[in-house]
Amino acid sequence: MVKMEKLHHKRDADELFKEFKETSITEFFRKNRAHLGYSGKLRSLTTVIHEIVTNSLDACEEAGILPEIYVEINSLGNEHYRVFASDNGPGIPIRHISDVFGKMLAGTKFHRNIQLRGQQGIGVAGVTMFSQITTGKPIKIRTSTGNGKVYEVKLMIDIAKNRADIISKNEYEQYWRGTEIEVELKNVKFNLSDKGPFEYIRRTAIANPHARITFVDPEGRKTVFERSSDKIPKPPIAIKPHPKGIEVDDLLQMAKASNARKVSSFLTSTFARMSNAKVKEIQEYVSFDLNKNPRRLTWSECEEIVNAIRNIKFLAPSTEGLEPIGEKQIRSAVLNILDPEFESVLTRPPRVHSGGTPFIIEAAIAYGGHAGRNSKEGVRAEVMRFANRAPLLFDAGGCAITKAINSIDWKRYGLKDIENSPITIFVNIVSTYVPYTSAGKQSIAEEKEILKEIRMALMDLGRKFQVYHSRKRRAMEREAKRQILMKYSTELAAGLAKLTGEDENKILRDLQELIEEKIRTGVILEEGEKEGEIEMEVIPEETEGEEELELEEVV
Ligand SMILES: Nc1ncnc2c1ncn2[C@@H]1O[C@H](COP(=O)(O)OP(=O)(O)OP(=O)(O)O)[C@@H](O)[C@H]1O
Ligand SMILES: [Mg+2]
Repeated sequence: MVKMEKLHHKRDADELFKEFKETSITEFFRKNRAHLGYSGKLRSLTTVIHEIVTNSLDACEEAGILPEIYVEINSLGNEHYRVFASDNGPGIPIRHISDVFGKMLAGTKFHRNIQLRGQQGIGVAGVTMFSQITTGKPIKIRTSTGNGKVYEVKLMIDIAKNRADIISKNEYEQYWRGTEIEVELKNVKFNLSDKGPFEYIRRTAIANPHARITFVDPEGRKTVFERSSDKIPKPPIAIKPHPKGIEVDDLLQMAKASNARKVSSFLTSTFARMSNAKVKEIQEYVSFDLNKNPRRLTWSECEEIVNAIRNIKFLAPSTEGLEPIGEKQIRSAVLNILDPEFESVLTRPPRVHSGGTPFIIEAAIAYGGHAGRNSKEGVRAEVMRFANRAPLLFDAGGCAITKAINSIDWKRYGLKDIENSPITIFVNIVSTYVPYTSAGKQSIAEEKEILKEIRMALMDLGRKFQVYHSRKRRAMEREAKRQILMKYSTELAAGLAKLTGEDENKILRDLQELIEEKIRTGVILEEGEKEGEIEMEVIPEETEGEEELELEEVV
């Protein structure tokens, strides 16, 4: 058999392996740009805006600055645009500019457990790459940290080497602080649809009421989203990883990079909720001494530690690293932008996903006013998904938020046809690590705990809507009855006047007063319907069948 196969070989392994070659990360994403969100003309343009704006907001948040962001898109011809954006953030030190814009997997966020919009260190280098492969032109950056020196840099990416290729660099003196970016893009399209840059900015303004954002579209139309809150969100703080979320290889890598002298002190200094007492418990499970040098740990020793951790109870992760938008702020943003007739907002208590990462779900429902989405067929339901305050406009199908919304039986909350209702559903997940389904960061993985929390939030909001809805329905029914009774009161008054010989106008006045009085006090109501009972209506919770994991609990 072997001989036969050999006979049929056209090329041997040595020949085939002549093709063997290492690829840079940039090369990978150049070929697979859809992974970064560069697929489709509209989506590509929105992705560029998303990457630039999330970076500005992150930088301002960490520096404790109230963001002032300006975004302008100019048309330069057929499917050819220029994007100019600026922020008043902390600026970028000159020595880091080439890596920020010209190198993928480089940044200040990936290695930290921190609640920020960016987490990969790819975003803006992806913008440089997309601009360069569609126009052949460099990205232009102007930045200053406020030290009196302003830098203007033009750069491209050396795709094979995943590093910046500086085209020009200028330096001059001026007191200013912030970052400006200018890129040209081809093969992209601008429109005002719900997947376009305008909608992206509008949603960003809703979830970031502390930001003032100005947007100028290619027609020159300028929209200023004023801030509805002057409160700077608390700068996010990095939190240590929780032992329950750790895997063997993570532990090995961390141990190798540690400066600690002993495994015991490496464990207490690296992980949250790891006390000396917990280290002692681990010691009882493992076959080696935890006084050994962490850099000498073997893979199987790390495996023993991870198995020990599985058997030990730890306090759930601390939530001090989490900063939700807050009910008050969401409400003022919703009122400001959607001006609804009904709104309800809520923040759920913190929970953990994937074994060790804390998260919080915030949700809101707005009904009537400008809520919902305008389409050719009329107003439709609108879902606004966010992760750490950044809008998610694409890949809705595979997202935990969509799945949770679709799993709710909205009819029981008085929304018979939710698809065709003037309703906006807002969901934001706040976490030090958001489990996205791809590097394009537009969809949240369907983690069990996350799905459950979103459902709980939506059911709670649904119940509040139901109370409002029944009240409104009853008020409308009462008004309809009043009008019918009023209409017949004239005929009745005439009849009674004939029978009794009394003044018709007086009878009519008395009758109408009586009707108003009975309607007001709720005496004229349908059988079985009594005023005051509305709020007592109890809608049973959709059962979940699982216990909730409280943060105070041990995990
Ligand atoms: N406008 C800005 N002001 C200050 N620093 C910035 C700005 N834009 C980017 N940076 C810095 O550049 C780094 C790289 O940005 P990039 O968007 O590539 O990655 P990221 O934001 O860390 O993660 P992600 O790939 O998820 O967006 C950031 O981590 C941040 O430190
Ligand atoms: Mg980013």
